[in-house]
Amino acid sequence: MRSFPPYRIQVVKQIPITTRAEREEALSAACYNMFDVPAGKVTIDLLTDSGTGAVSAAQEAAAAAADRSYAGSDSYYRFRSALDELTPYPHVFPVHQGRAAERVLFSSVLRPGRISLSNTHFDTTRANIELLGCEARDLPCVQARDLDSAEPFKGDIDLAGLERTLSGPDGPRVGQVLMTITNNGGGGQPVSMANLHAVRELCQRYRVPFFLDAARFAENAWLVTQREPGYRHLSPREVARQAFALADGCVASLKKDAIAPMGAFIGLRDAETAKRCEVNLIATEGFRTYGGLASHDLERVAQGLREVLEPDYLRSRAAETAHLARLVNEAGVDIVQPAGIHALYLNAGRLLPHIPPGGFPGHALACQLYLDGGIRCVELGSLYLGKFDAEHNLLEPAPFELVRVAIPRRTYTLAHLEYVADVLAGIAKNPERVPRYRVVDAPPLLRHFNLKMAQL
Ligand code: F0G
Repeated sequence: MRSFPPYRIQVVKQIPITTRAEREEALSAACYNMFDVPAGKVTIDLLTDSGTGAVSAAQEAAAAAADRSYAGSDSYYRFRSALDELTPYPHVFPVHQGRAAERVLFSSVLRPGRISLSNTHFDTTRANIELLGCEARDLPCVQARDLDSAEPFKGDIDLAGLERTLSGPDGPRVGQVLMTITNNGGGGQPVSMANLHAVRELCQRYRVPFFLDAARFAENAWLVTQREPGYRHLSPREVARQAFALADGCVASLKKDAIAPMGAFIGLRDAETAKRCEVNLIATEGFRTYGGLASHDLERVAQGLREVLEPDYLRSRAAETAHLARLVNEAGVDIVQPAGIHALYLNAGRLLPHIPPGGFPGHALACQLYLDGGIRCVELGSLYLGKFDAEHNLLEPAPFELVRVAIPRRTYTLAHLEYVADVLAGIAKNPERVPRYRVVDAPPLLRHFNLKMAQL
């Protein structure tokens, strides 16, 4: 039996339909930087699944009834009780988005010279650690190196590497272990509960705090129920609760799996760490019961946290992504296997072998999807991760040339996704016509947001 979304569409938003000439002009005016293309010139926007989900009538109803009191608002208590149903943390702080949670937590836990270990740090996470004078070190599991293998949990951390680091000369400098679920920087792959149990055990043995970056906790929980023996009989909520219970605390953007336009939270067991976070929070984000969020956003988050764990919702969302993955494969385009939920990662290096890493095949594919179909997505390859010299020449390519096609929650129908597959199939029929690109200007920090590129 096919799965279907457990909702119907009551409010819709028109999407821009553009001509090829308009898209060529928009992309060249943006210096081939997807972040500079106005959304009004994008037909299908697959740049991110963050803050782009469709809100429900129940979320909007709750938002309309929000309580704007400065301290201790009813909205805060509803937010808090949604999180108490899910996490065991006695200290919970709202913040305006995930990177604020990172900044507040890390500056309370780390000091210069410390190392953060992770399955893979997300880019803002890495930036927040490096800005504190610390090192963000990724230890993805070995299975993650083979993009084509069907291993179920390629988001896991390399446990042997983790233990080597904790017991080795760098051990005393390790300030935290941060597990990103699902592993966004690592192909959107899930993390197994077995891996989280083992990380907890190692962190306890070596007395290092263990945190989750739980931006996609519900999607990770769903994949655990589908792929990990011993968890099939549990609900996604039960698995998510078990995951949160393993850690000393978490940071979580709520723009993803709370299906809200804005929001995040910090959860902590340790009272001392919580006290330090609270001072920082009040000075920089807002009072502890709103933390930089408007009351209506606290309400949307509280309701979204309940909706996102509905098995019918998660089943149909996973099926949508799997459907797109099948069509993309049939069109002759490889993806990082097996498909996760929030995005597909297209193997642009393999699709465009005539473009060397220095011609940026991932960026070339992303630009072509826009030029041919008005579809926006973003490169995750040498442009994003490679090392450059002062003249903007690529010195060291990234290990893979990928494009992330993110799928906003409840926003596009299967017909939209089928259209994306059609445009991609058109490119795959005649890949040699895709041009290469060169960097015209690249700032040293957060390069991909401010790049200027040219077509060759
Ligand atoms: N951690 C992970 C794993 C993320 O994917 C993101 C954001 C953040 C932290 C930061 O959260 O945006 O609320 O400040 N990811 C978005 C993306 C931007 O497109 O993957 P934020």
